[in-house]
Amino acid sequence: MIIAIDGPAASGKGTLAKRIAAHFGYGCLDTGLLYRAVARDVMARNRSLEDEAFAARIARTLDAATLDDAGLRLPGVGDAASVVAKFPAVRAALLDFQRDFARQEPGAVLDGRDIGTVVCPDAPVKIFVTADVEVRARRRFEEMRRLGEPVTFDRVLEVIRRRDERDAGRADAPMKAARDAILLDTTNLDIETSFDAAVGLIKRKIGQ
Ligand code: C5P
Repeated sequence: MIIAIDGPAASGKGTLAKRIAAHFGYGCLDTGLLYRAVARDVMARNRSLEDEAFAARIARTLDAATLDDAGLRLPGVGDAASVVAKFPAVRAALLDFQRDFARQEPGAVLDGRDIGTVVCPDAPVKIFVTADVEVRARRRFEEMRRLGEPVTFDRVLEVIRRRDERDAGRADAPMKAARDAILLDTTNLDIETSFDAAVGLIKRKIGQ
């Protein structure tokens, strides 16, 4: 079983993916971490994020053991990730890893931007998680404030809007809902309600 979860930044898809995987006893891969790790390694070598050939070389030799680095979760790394993620050679280099992960038994949940459209187009269950941009920015802002980061709401909103545009506007594997994806709008839902709604959708889809 493969469950593909896509959606924009701060939509809640990551938390949802983890909860769903734990509920069904499946493996879980946050594919954003791959792009974040490529960006981290490019920056660590003092190279430009716009250097496609270099970023692709980093992607081809990425060490999956470094994906649990807490630094990958920093918001600035997400923004940098969306720069290297626009390059076809980077995306191609990360495909096999994602598809191998998806093949595990009894199942896998992958979350990202192009799981239902490109990585696992045959996934039996596809969910596209959305929420109003202001609500997503508010969630991210509260999260960062709890961590003591000196940010303003307007700045967080601006960064999320820019990332949405970059991810939805790129030519290769843009963020979008697959034609057969179920839309889950979490604008007015907390995590518990979103989780219950997602599990209900999945069970209906697989006929349980
Ligand atoms: O999901 P997360 O915010 O960690 O993703 C960071 C960036 O990685 C995204 O903004 C996007 O540019 C890129 N990404 C992608 N395809 C995926 C997952 C993430 O292009 N499947």
